[in-house]
Amino acid sequence: MTVTALIVAAGKGERLGGDVPKQFRPIGGKPVLRWAVEAMVRHPLINQVRVVIGAGQRDLAEAALSGLPVGELIEGGVERSDSVLNGLMAIAEGTVLVHDAARPFCPTDVIDRLLGALEGCDGAVPVVAVADTLGKGSGGVLDEPVDRKQLFRVQTPQAFHVEDLIYAYEEAGRNSATDESTVMLAAGLKVATVEGDPMLEKLTTPADWSRAEAILSSRFVSR
Ligand code: CTP
Ligand code: MG
Repeated sequence: MTVTALIVAAGKGERLGGDVPKQFRPIGGKPVLRWAVEAMVRHPLINQVRVVIGAGQRDLAEAALSGLPVGELIEGGVERSDSVLNGLMAIAEGTVLVHDAARPFCPTDVIDRLLGALEGCDGAVPVVAVADTLGKGSGGVLDEPVDRKQLFRVQTPQAFHVEDLIYAYEEAGRNSATDESTVMLAAGLKVATVEGDPMLEKLTTPADWSRAEAILSSRFVSR
């Protein structure tokens, strides 16, 4: 069964700001997107990598990806889910790891755990525990304690069988889903959790970017 890494890179990076969308900006000496793709290309169980980009981003993408085996670039859509669906239609079958380009540093062992867990489930996602105490309330007051032991932050890559994920999107619709696990659950499918990694945090805001730069300069990350 072919394992495809589908990297969605068609966003505009508005919350980070700057002249160029974040996935094309260099960090630690190379574009964010290049880091994300290289992590997938280097994994022995991943057979192919496909990248979804926005209309008008082709030159930036080709420069960021030069020399990497990514096949034909796929055009994305207005919402992230549109970009994912366009990618799924292009792949059509096999196993897919849907991954945000904005998460450049993906450890090999997370991918191992995802593909292992997918054997017994409809999907598998990496999660990290929530460290802060959580509150629930409105109107400026807390009204309920929250048990954080049952709550996780859900990361990407997320592993599925392509046909199941297309079925889930057809069944549940796209709504405002920000990831595929939400769509799978809405369609009644079973998604396993595996241990994620702090290095997989998404680069969303300028503070995230500064933190990632600090981590890169303080420790060795294989290039
Ligand atoms: N993405 C995409 N197509 C879209 C929107 C987002 O492929 N229409 C991708 C982004 O490129 C990113 C990932 O989905 O790799 C996660 O989205 P997010 O962090 O929200 O990135 P942006 O949408 O680019 O950022 P912002 O929301 O701040 O504009
Ligand atoms: Mg976005």
